Order: sequence, then C-alpha cells, then structure tokens
Amino acid sequence: MSEIHLKCEGVWKKFGGFEALRGVDLEVKKGEILGLIGPNGAGKSTLLNLINGVYSPSRGRITFEGKDITGKKPHEICKLGIARVFQIPRPFYEMSCLDNVVTAIVFNSQADRNHAERRAAELLEFVGMKYPNRSPDEVTLQDKRRVELARSLACNPKLLLVDEYMAGLNPGEIQEASELLKKVNEELGITVIWVEHVMHAIMGLAERIVVLDHGLKIAEGSPQEVVKDKQVIEAYLGSAMEIMEA
Ligand SMILES: Nc1ncnc2c1ncn2[C@@H]1O[C@H](COP(=O)(O)OP(=O)(O)OP(=O)(O)O)[C@@H](O)[C@H]1O
Ligand SMILES: [Mg+2]
Repeated sequence: MSEIHLKCEGVWKKFGGFEALRGVDLEVKKGEILGLIGPNGAGKSTLLNLINGVYSPSRGRITFEGKDITGKKPHEICKLGIARVFQIPRPFYEMSCLDNVVTAIVFNSQADRNHAERRAAELLEFVGMKYPNRSPDEVTLQDKRRVELARSLACNPKLLLVDEYMAGLNPGEIQEASELLKKVNEELGITVIWVEHVMHAIMGLAERIVVLDHGLKIAEGSPQEVVKDKQVIEAYLGSAMEIMEA
C-alpha cells in the first residue's frame, strides 16, 4: 500500500453556529493528484484552509508525514512543506513578476538576492512564464496564475493545495494549465490536492476524487466511479454537467 502523505481524521469546522465541515476523513497518498469536488459552499476551500493553518479545526486531527499539524500556523505549515495556490492571485503590483517570486524565496529561505534571482528565474521558466520582467497587471490571468504557482513553489513544497486553478481560463489555457499541474506532480514529485469546478480537467488528471457536500464526504474513488455515483450526480454533477453543456 502506498504511503499516506496527509491524513484528516474526523475534521469539523464551525463558524459560529454554522457547521462548514462535519467530521471529514481524508487520506492523501504520497505522489498522487487528489481531486476535491462538490457544490458551492460544500466546504472545499475551508478544508484547504484547515490543512494550511489559516483556520484551526473545531474538532479532529490533521497529520502530515506522520506529524500532528492540527492548529499550527500557516508559516509553520509552509516550513513543513505544504504550500497553497489561491484561486485569486494577489501579487504585489508595484514590482515585476520576477521580483514577486524573488520576494517569496527570500521570505521563505533568507537566501541572498543573487541566489534568489537565479532560483526565481528557474521557477518562472518551469511554469512557462515568458514575461518575467512585466508587472503582474500587464499580464493575462493565466500568466498571473503561473506567477502565483511559482511563488508557491518557492518554499520547495512536498504537498501543494490548489484551489480552482482553472477558473476564468479559456479551453486552450485550461489544457495548458492541466499539463503544467501534471508536470509539477510528475517532475517535481509533489503531491497535489486540487479543488476544481472544471470537471473535464479534474476528471482527466486526478487519480482519485473526493466529493464533499454540505460539509460531509459523500463519495470517493476513481473519476470513473465517482461520475456514476447516484448521490454525487444528485448533489453536484447533474448541475455541473448542465453547466458544462450550456
Ligand atoms: N470565515 C467564514 N465565516 C463564516 N462562514 C464561512 C467562512 N468561510 C466559509 N464559510 C462558509 O462555509 C461554507 C463552506 O465554504 P467554502 O468556501 O469552504 O465552500 P467551497 O466548497 O469552497 O465553495 P466554492 O465552490 O463556492 O468555492 C459556506 O457556507 C461559507 O459561507
Ligand atoms: Mg472554494
């Protein structure tokens, strides 16, 4: 059996009286791409926020590489090797794309400027960014996402949490972005948990899919198993398919 990289056991998150997650168990295998899907408000981003320490679980336990990381702060979790790619890139617009990545490297490793610049240029090349010297407001959404991805790779993560990487991209860009996530996984050996609403992309790339609905895990399995699951079709895929076909 393959090694478990990250484990969530009975994880709950309450916001006041509202239960956003209700006892979710999750096992992520080392080296896999795990897809996390479900309707709006299901708790997907909240689960990522618990894993990278933006929130603490109300109950339950999260372990990474066998270590309990429950309730640790985001910078501690980042140091342990978990990075996050946010849906909405928030670069520093007053500096170039390259300097955005340099800043992330210096922040994470206290590397000297020359070393950080070389590493940032390598990372931007790896993600296919052709305009490293432009400001983030002079590049497309796809390129902003590339920069966001390069920034998240600055801490040399072993596990990457990706939230709706495809949102707002056109079909050609979605194809390129899929290839890039695959390259991150295969060439860098990074485990990926990927939240996505673009069904054909996630079904084509993720080895396993976990489905959340109203804070509960309602299904898990291969993409082929999950698309046939009655509960999943009722809760999510029925409407997701209609959206895809519209
Ligand atoms: N900080 C917060 N305070 C109060 N409620 C919150 C907070 N964060 C999330 N929620 C609520 O928790 C529920 C789950 O939200 P979450 O963002 O995890 O959903 P999601 O599955 O990522 O949805 P989407 O697909 O729309 O991004 C929602 O009802 C949301 O309004
Ligand atoms: Mg979300």
